[in-house]
Amino acid sequence: MTKQASCDIGLIGLAVMGENLALNIASRGYSIAVYNRTTSVTDAFTADRGKQPNVVGCRTLEDLVAALKAPRKVMMMVKAGPAVDQLIATLTPLLSKGDVIIDGGNTLPSDTDRRTREVEASGLLYIGTGVSGGEEGALKGPSLMPGGSKAAWPLIQPIFQAIAAKVGPKGDIPCCDWVGPRGAGNYVKMVHNGIEYGDMQLICEAYWLLKQAAGLSNDQLAKVFDTWNRGELDSYLIEITRDIFTARDPGTNDYVVDKILDKAGAKGTGKWMSQLALDMGVPSTLVTEAVYARCLSAMKDQRTRASRVLVGPDMHNRGDTHLFIEQVRQALYASKIASYAQGFVQLAAAAKENEWQLDYRSIAMLWRGGCIIRAQFLERIAEAYDAEPNLENLMLAPYFQKALADSQSAWRHVIASAATIGVPVPGFMAALAYYDGYRHERLPANLLQAQRDYFGAHTYERTDKPGTFHTEWLDLRRPVG
Ligand code: 6PG
Repeated sequence: MTKQASCDIGLIGLAVMGENLALNIASRGYSIAVYNRTTSVTDAFTADRGKQPNVVGCRTLEDLVAALKAPRKVMMMVKAGPAVDQLIATLTPLLSKGDVIIDGGNTLPSDTDRRTREVEASGLLYIGTGVSGGEEGALKGPSLMPGGSKAAWPLIQPIFQAIAAKVGPKGDIPCCDWVGPRGAGNYVKMVHNGIEYGDMQLICEAYWLLKQAAGLSNDQLAKVFDTWNRGELDSYLIEITRDIFTARDPGTNDYVVDKILDKAGAKGTGKWMSQLALDMGVPSTLVTEAVYARCLSAMKDQRTRASRVLVGPDMHNRGDTHLFIEQVRQALYASKIASYAQGFVQLAAAAKENEWQLDYRSIAMLWRGGCIIRAQFLERIAEAYDAEPNLENLMLAPYFQKALADSQSAWRHVIASAATIGVPVPGFMAALAYYDGYRHERLPANLLQAQRDYFGAHTYERTDKPGTFHTEWLDLRRPVG
């Protein structure tokens, strides 16, 4: 029987993330009412993992609402998109002024912008929060990136900060803090995912270079990644990659990773970051190359046919293997810096466009633990924004300036080697092109402007005087001597 108005929070949607978040909330001493559209899922959960005093199973949304203390807090963990709008429409008449609706899905920031306005117009409060860390993170401590109705933050802060991952010297700093209004929290989560795409692509390129070009075995790869995980590259993604190289099929004793089809999937959050970057004219090239690399990998049948026709060099690096491994490590670290720099540049551009006041040091600390891109490296980013809150680009921070300067010889060698032996490294190449493009005062865009003006009279600015100009190129052109 549902206890009346006794639960601290309600949660709708008992799929992997919802179920584990509910257990995390209950494990911190909060009482939670849970509901799933398919009643048997609710029943199975409350008869098994959710069979505990702090968890109240509800068979209807009305029961769930009746089970909540005022002001009510209802968290939706359902598939992003129309289902969220439908659920909001069903919930709104059941709730009272000042109650809070929370969306914990990977939601397009503009959807949360709209929903915040719509829900607030009904007298309710709305939160769109990023939730990062996968199944384990949801259960033991995710990174949470809440945004929306600021008035709702004090109502959910205690529960959210209780369940979040903790970092800091005493392990007591929650990876959860207020991000900003409307879709700001979902935007930060989307950029997290875009950086995640970039990180994963760069790691895959490093793997392919070491395996194909340097001929490392999976055991050797596991040892390399284990060593890397104890240095500057210390991170969740490096750690799980190490583990992946050790995993063998129980039946055949083959390495599982060698049996996985090389066709990447994607739910779309990385693509959103790339699309929104293009809309703002912000060069987020790493996430874009990572998205396209996934698209190219998915063209497996075409690639198989092409592999029988298109020729290239044999993919073997004939240099010193140990030196090459270290050079790849440096190239990976330098490329990672460029990738995170792009992510924070895009956040700043979005903040300006949306009139958000984002705290970049705080965002770096939100990502320090619990989330998929969690890494020691984020301490360095937090320190950089601590020292200079209005840092124009992470690459300009003294620590990263030096890291890039120290790594670039190896970075360039690895990319040159990859090009020479025919190993595709679009992420490494995009990162270096961004670094070289950003650090040069002069670029060849003067010629591009001349071309645009020649065929389209699009005009150009000059370096020697202000104004915009057009040249009658056909009058000025001369025969080549
Ligand atoms: C996280 C993850 C998660 C994401 C998966 C799958 O922060 O826990 O980013 O939100 O959905 O990583 O994403 P793709 O299918 O787009 O790779």
